[in-house]
Amino acid sequence: MFNVQDIRKDFPILSRKVNGKPLVYFDNAATSQTPQQVIDTIVDYYSNYNANIHRGVHTLSQEATDLYEQARQNIQAHFNAKFSHEIILTSGTTHSINLVANGFSSLLKKGDDIIVSALEHHSNIVPWQMLCERTGAHLKVIPMNEDGELIMEAYDKLLSKNTKLVFVNHISNALGTINPIETIIEKAHAVGAAVLIDGAQACPHVKPDVQKLDVDFYVASAHKMCGPTGVGMLYGKASWLNKLPPYQGGGEMIAEVTFEKTTYASLPHKFEAGTPNIAGGIAFGAAIKYMNTIGFEAIAAYENELLHYATEKLLQIEGLKIYGTSESKTSVISFNLNNIHPYDVGTILDKLGIAVRTGHHCAQPIMDFYKIPGTVRASFAFYNTKKEIDALVEGVKKAKMMLS
Ligand code: ALA
Repeated sequence: MFNVQDIRKDFPILSRKVNGKPLVYFDNAATSQTPQQVIDTIVDYYSNYNANIHRGVHTLSQEATDLYEQARQNIQAHFNAKFSHEIILTSGTTHSINLVANGFSSLLKKGDDIIVSALEHHSNIVPWQMLCERTGAHLKVIPMNEDGELIMEAYDKLLSKNTKLVFVNHISNALGTINPIETIIEKAHAVGAAVLIDGAQACPHVKPDVQKLDVDFYVASAHKMCGPTGVGMLYGKASWLNKLPPYQGGGEMIAEVTFEKTTYASLPHKFEAGTPNIAGGIAFGAAIKYMNTIGFEAIAAYENELLHYATEKLLQIEGLKIYGTSESKTSVISFNLNNIHPYDVGTILDKLGIAVRTGHHCAQPIMDFYKIPGTVRASFAFYNTKKEIDALVEGVKKAKMMLS
């Protein structure tokens, strides 16, 4: 049974105060909070197993290696990847995207097309622009409508035999829109293009099945799903990962090195040069286990309830406009209050102990579309409550009164 008060006890930070007020944490789309079970894994690692992995014959190294590889298997099972070597542990979504973009440098040529969407985070725009500069490929953009949804008829028109890659986020970080990735993948495959889905914002809310999606690459970060910062993953079909060249050179990613020639290690190590974030990887596995114990169906149902409750309450405030009004959205509310700058609203909310994100959310093209400098973004997680939403609503009313 889903009991939010019991769940909250797992998160020590939720009982702290900010500016003398109980913390209301609504910046989950930037970084989720960490339960004690995951924190304990990190403490346990440094207290009992700290050693480098894949390198030592000594006991600590072997124990650390086993824990790290066990985490990879947890991640594999969660995303339903066929093989554990299709899971590359990275420093996060941005690293994962850059790894793939770099790999495609040698596979693209002038005249090829890359398609992204108008809803992307900068980390799913800039690496592809850099790739286009290197290869002469063109970047094309699936446009969006006022509700913050992708215009799928326009996508159909962009696709052609020149399309080599399609990159779209599963859920928009700035607006919360859930994109129709099944259709996007199917249509891209029909013209022979590969697809990368940025799942950073989706993974805290849904459990993607990469085999069912038949997606070529899927990327995510641990810190959005109750894990630590500085660790994430790239799922890639083995056939693609074998085709792409390594991203970074260094220790651990080689089979043999001489000054004349180096041969590379097999997957996943080919893409994991250097000492990784070992404690982070182990904690990522623990975070996935924790979220699965609560259950993604229960999480989605509860967060949906929070979303609808908050939407209704916030819309009662005159002058408040919500950006991102798709029927298909997750628990993110981006809004502005009359012509008041989002930063000013965020500052007042912080004084009341309420953490929201303000600004362009690393998605400037979306803000340009709406002709606004940014928004206030409240993003809810399964450990938030309606009482906290009431505090947000009161805080926004107060901000309006003070700033109007
Ligand atoms: N990409 C993160 C966000 O949306 C940091 O806030």
